[in-house]
Amino acid sequence: IRDERKQSILDVDDLKKLDELRVQLLGKKGPVTQALRSMKDLPADERPSFGQFANKVRDDLKNAIDDRNSELQQAALNFKLQHEKIDVTLPGAAVTQGQPHVIQQIVDQLEDLFMGMGYQVLSGPEVEEDKYNFEMMNLPKDHPARDMQDTFYITKEILMRTQTSPMQARTLETHDFSKGPLKMISPGVVYRRDTDDPTHSHQFHQVEGLVIDKHVTMADLKGTLELVAHTLFGDRFDVRLRPSYFPFTEPSVEADITCFNCGGKGCNVCKYTGWIEVLGAGMVHPNVLKMAGVDPTVYGGFAFGLGPDRFAMLKYGVDDIRNFYLNDVRFLTQFAKKG
Ligand code: PHE
Repeated sequence: IRDERKQSILDVDDLKKLDELRVQLLGKKGPVTQALRSMKDLPADERPSFGQFANKVRDDLKNAIDDRNSELQQAALNFKLQHEKIDVTLPGAAVTQGQPHVIQQIVDQLEDLFMGMGYQVLSGPEVEEDKYNFEMMNLPKDHPARDMQDTFYITKEILMRTQTSPMQARTLETHDFSKGPLKMISPGVVYRRDTDDPTHSHQFHQVEGLVIDKHVTMADLKGTLELVAHTLFGDRFDVRLRPSYFPFTEPSVEADITCFNCGGKGCNVCKYTGWIEVLGAGMVHPNVLKMAGVDPTVYGGFAFGLGPDRFAMLKYGVDDIRNFYLNDVRFLTQFAKKG
């Protein structure tokens, strides 16, 4: 019997089955335990030799099981080593790394430039009050210029901001001029009820700029805008100001920079003018200062609003603004920052 059992132990090729077999042979109901139990029925003189023999059988079986157990474990390990081996000479899989969105890259550059000149960088609410978006920007309820910006209204008094200019009103209202001049930029997203097409998006970016102090002139505005152009595009780009109209600035200007395509010589991109319009600006209207509680006979300054989407389109020759909002990685990874 013992040899037969031993053979059955050697035949097992699975650790789980081996354990089952161990319970079967050596467990409480197994033959060895049974035999040891039945010893009490034997005549006293036969007991010692029977006991010895039964214990020996038990030890033999136990050893056989243990040996088989380590054999099987070793085999399982070998199998794993064979099948999970790694070829360390294979080239590694490239890890793709994220990057700031191209619009964010433009905004980052502007933030660096203006922070370097001591401006604060502020962000304001995209869901805005009519009061800040229009009224305090010198656009009362019946003002015809409200039509310049088609608005998503949420209620009569709450809207999706159509411009970042409400941040002018918000900062003017809270700034403490006894602590120094007000210098801030405010980048963010704005919304207009436009049908999306290559040059319109119902959602786009603006960066507002505002400087208010005692002796700020239009020359300061022009110098600042030149710095913006030089930083984003390069030193050979010039800025020119053209008269324009905004309700919250007087005088108002639109700023053009040297056309990228022809370098100012005239081409069909700039309609043979040599210039490309890039932003709106002007000297802050006295009404805007007054409504925010700032005395326009003492303080004044300039404001500008520029569109990073438009800058990015010009800088990289992108011909459809919608590309910036579709989040197609094939488009976006073209603007990976090097180094
Ligand atoms: N808010 C204006 C616009 O959206 C831009 C602007 C800002 C003009 C500040 C003048 C001063 O068109």
